[in-house]
Amino acid sequence: MANTITPHVLLFPMPAQGHLLPMTKLADLLSHAGLYVTFLATEGVYQRCFLRDDDDRGDQPRFRFRTVPDGLPRESSRPFVDTLDGLLGVVGHARGPYRELLASSRGGGGGGGGEGELWPPVTCVVADGFLPFALDVPVEMGIPVMVLRTSSPCSVWAYCCIPELIKRGEVASPDEPNLDESIQGVAGMEGFLRRRDLPGFVRKAQSADDPGLQFFATCSANLTRARALILNTFEALDSPVISRLRDVCPDVYGLGPLHLLGRNVCSTPSGGDSGKLWREDRTCMAWLDRQPDRSVVYVSFGSITVISREELLEFWHGLIGSGKRFLWVVRSDLVAETSADEKTETPLELEEGTRERGCLVGWAPQEEVLAHRSIGCFLTHSGWNSTLEGVVAGVPMVCWPFLGDQYTNSRFVSEVWRNGLDMKDAGGRDVVERMVKAAMDGEGADELRRSASKLAEEARESAEEGGSSYLDYQRLVQQIKSLSS
Ligand code: UDX
Repeated sequence: MANTITPHVLLFPMPAQGHLLPMTKLADLLSHAGLYVTFLATEGVYQRCFLRDDDDRGDQPRFRFRTVPDGLPRESSRPFVDTLDGLLGVVGHARGPYRELLASSRGGGGGGGGEGELWPPVTCVVADGFLPFALDVPVEMGIPVMVLRTSSPCSVWAYCCIPELIKRGEVASPDEPNLDESIQGVAGMEGFLRRRDLPGFVRKAQSADDPGLQFFATCSANLTRARALILNTFEALDSPVISRLRDVCPDVYGLGPLHLLGRNVCSTPSGGDSGKLWREDRTCMAWLDRQPDRSVVYVSFGSITVISREELLEFWHGLIGSGKRFLWVVRSDLVAETSADEKTETPLELEEGTRERGCLVGWAPQEEVLAHRSIGCFLTHSGWNSTLEGVVAGVPMVCWPFLGDQYTNSRFVSEVWRNGLDMKDAGGRDVVERMVKAAMDGEGADELRRSASKLAEEARESAEEGGSSYLDYQRLVQQIKSLSS
């Protein structure tokens, strides 16, 4: 009879908001299934996101946090990674301690507990797909690794096609590329994908040895070394892409929308600051309560986007010109450092147009906001979490992608799922005004709303008992358990 060791999963997210949140939901789901869970966070992220009174995960007997250094100054205002160089800096500090933690766990130390607990050795690692070293280290030590890719499956597949795109001469050219040209080489997307819609690092690369291109090619190659690929999506939304990815990594699990599955399985509330880098300003909920049904444009550009003051004003004028009410998340670091002249300009919240019809907050309870009856459309940067949250809420989107997978996501919103409009690469006030009006009550608005409602229904079904994501969750737990026997 085979010896069975208690299953113990270590999850290691990339220190960035859009990666932390889905990894946190996955950790909760695995903990709920009775597995031992170690959540490995970088020090700055742990302090800012999890060392909080309202986070009781650390008090649960089979859930614990561990940290690795990030090399950032203590109490850094930006304890997260938003560039490739930043990521490489963190790797330099975290790799050694990560290896030591795993070695101590395998050597009977339970992973550096130090509190006298008897934790079983780590039997499986779930590594963020953007942290190649988080996979390399356990693979070298013979510990099974699964990969969570938190960005969209359509982008994961596009990254897998980088060698083919280079071979065909579609990308990595020093010449000024024609962004409107159709792209061949991303199988299954030939009909509608333009160069403009490729993930940021791919469309911008000027040579095959571009560091961004190389990084994403490595992340894709790593999928062949993983025991499984976990995606934040569901079959009804992404089945063609999931099938393609099964050729790369045979065990693919679609567990999305993770925030919905988490809510159903673990009864986790949708709000709260746990896992968030900024504190929610809930005053906007009372403001929303005072607005008519489907009258408000919710505007949020996620956690990484940085725009100029000029761009900010173009969006503001577009919103004012549309005549619609708006709730806008203006993060404290949304606008790039401004010049002395700009600093003396009237803040947007004091402008008459804002006071009449708008509400500005630094960070919103986004899932709750999107579910509010007053929201008519979502002007979004098309980050994958935001896109899924918009899908779950059944709200049409106007997409203004800023980086990475967002360029591909917005194309899927407008051309495949048809639950929104894509204003990619155009951000002037006239375009903002036109797109917002079109999504709220233009000619095609009813159709957008119908598609959005259908997707919301499919998302709901997938995360219910017996739905595709629910079943994949159960299958994943079984596979993790089987790895420890
Ligand atoms: C990044 C990339 O931009 C994205 O494309 C990739 O898929 C993941 O990493 P980010 O910019 O953080 O993500 O956007 P997104 O993926 O949408 O995640 C933002 C998260 O912050 C969402 O879960 C959203 O609900 C939350 N949020 C955002 C808030 O809770 N409040 C806010 O005010 C704004």
